[in-house]
Amino acid sequence: MLTLGIETSCDETSCAVLDGRDRILSNIIASSLFKHKPFGGVVPEIASRHSLEQIDTVYRESLSEAGVGAEQLELIAVTEGPGLIGSLFVGICFAKALSFSLRLPLVGVNHLEAHLAANFIGAKMPEKFIGLLISGGHTSLSLHEGEKVSLLGQTIDDAVGEAFDKVAKVMGLEYPGGPVIEKLAREGNEQAFQFTKPKQSGPFDFSFSGIKTAVLYEVRKTMSSPDGSLREPRPRPSGERRNLDCGLRRNDAQTVCHSGERRNPLPPAFVRDMAASFQKSVADWILDKSLAALAETGARDLVVGGGVSANGYLKGRLKTAAEEAGVCVHFPERILALDNAAMIARRGIELVESGAPSSDPLRMTAQPNLSLLSR
Ligand code: KG4
Ligand code: ZN
Repeated sequence: MLTLGIETSCDETSCAVLDGRDRILSNIIASSLFKHKPFGGVVPEIASRHSLEQIDTVYRESLSEAGVGAEQLELIAVTEGPGLIGSLFVGICFAKALSFSLRLPLVGVNHLEAHLAANFIGAKMPEKFIGLLISGGHTSLSLHEGEKVSLLGQTIDDAVGEAFDKVAKVMGLEYPGGPVIEKLAREGNEQAFQFTKPKQSGPFDFSFSGIKTAVLYEVRKTMSSPDGSLREPRPRPSGERRNLDCGLRRNDAQTVCHSGERRNPLPPAFVRDMAASFQKSVADWILDKSLAALAETGARDLVVGGGVSANGYLKGRLKTAAEEAGVCVHFPERILALDNAAMIARRGIELVESGAPSSDPLRMTAQPNLSLLSR
């Protein structure tokens, strides 16, 4: 079955063509990330406008690279949610119009399910597995048995990707924080800072707001310390003090404030050690909970999905732990770990082949808060 996948849930605009479940013929991604960097996070209005500008080109490019004509397509799969409402609407409206004009069945896909499904493109899907979702907006552990999904636990505050982004921000680093922290952590001492393990309500729940605040306090301490290379922020003429979140951005060697006034950056060794210690603690917690979920349910496979699954350190730690525990851990290829339309097409095919009815194009709408259990 030749399936067109469409993904526009956040800052990526992507179209892909899959031949059957396993052959990716094209997977085109246009990112608006460069437009959000100056703001230190995704600006929804900029993301949806960018998708609107790019979607037609990305669609045409995906057909051209696949060597497929629109008339050969057999199914359209589009992200219904969760995500930013404006961005979701761009993909959904485009998919509806194509479905209507080409007389093709349309299937709505849950972005979170698709992140996990990305692991099975070209690989066998286990009957029973633990899903570990670690993205910018979600963190959860779930048990999957065929199409039956049970949520075991989730974050009670920040998502893990969000914690990477916020910790990077308080240290004046670029958005998105995940890749920057991973890079700096390679040179840092992961034992330099110890963080208290958070206490959650459920055994498989997560919490990342405590560690984020702990990093913020350490940063403040270092900025005001006589030994740190950063001075205590000077009072503004009005007497009002700037806080850490005043829009600090790292600009190579120096850090620049809104006013354009230059300040010395945090000591580079502090930033590297903090990045390494933060990443280690987060990996420890994810690892503990994932192994406990496998032990509790008797599942033998851990399937990881979401942008944070691109983290090489976490991947290494989970692989070693899985080997020791005699279980399998699955990670998507890097290009399939971040938001992309191939995973949407794959999940769409799975749904159709498992007998899920195609969606009514007139009724389908964006579902910004869709959860893993919304079917
Ligand atoms: O799944 P994704 O592309 O978008 C959402 O659906 O949220 O995930 C984006 C998140 C961002 O928070 C980003 O910082 C994080 O994934 N991320 C990483 C890495 N690459 C991306 N986090 C840690 N290490 C990485 N290498
Ligand atoms: Zn995602």
